[in-house]
Amino acid sequence: MISREEAFKLVEKYVTTPWLKLHMRESEVIMRALARKFGEDEEVWGISGLIHDLDYDYVGKDPKRHVVEFDKILEMESLVVGEDIPEEMYHAIKSHYEEHPDIQQKRESKLDYALSASETISGFLVACALVQPDKKISSVDVESVKKKFKKKDFAKAVRRELIYDIEKIGISLDEFIEISLKSLREIDTEIGL
Ligand SMILES: [Fe+2]
Repeated sequence: MISREEAFKLVEKYVTTPWLKLHMRESEVIMRALARKFGEDEEVWGISGLIHDLDYDYVGKDPKRHVVEFDKILEMESLVVGEDIPEEMYHAIKSHYEEHPDIQQKRESKLDYALSASETISGFLVACALVQPDKKISSVDVESVKKKFKKKDFAKAVRRELIYDIEKIGISLDEFIEISLKSLREIDTEIGL
């Protein structure tokens, strides 16, 4: 399997948009915390979070090619699924865009649900922090996040159902929000919040 260092080099090479790079790091730390919670492989889960949007800048943010072109990057980098990229990681990355007509993989494993929920909540929590008077992630709490989930006009693009689906893998929504907040607080300086 690729190392964390190799995975990060890929991010550096293919992802140039600053907010996107941060989003991938945020997804990584949430995934690592979830892996520890479930006793799963932290490297597999963390790297899945770190590289899940690897092709987003490469495709020029074109949603019709996003995640589809992940394969192209693997090919260019001579990375083999089942060797460098574990099957479960590949499945999770593909299925995080399961609504795309050309993507066959649907969310089914714990890792699949964890990735789509983590990468979705990461953006939502950043939006929550940015409306705090001090713009700090440390000022955001679980209750205020839940209230904002219900406000349809707040962070409209964030699909709440992907976050709620975390309960399908045996963790409450409250605990998931708590774990995610704690993870982002740990990298607050890095993400500038
Ligand atoms: Fe993402």
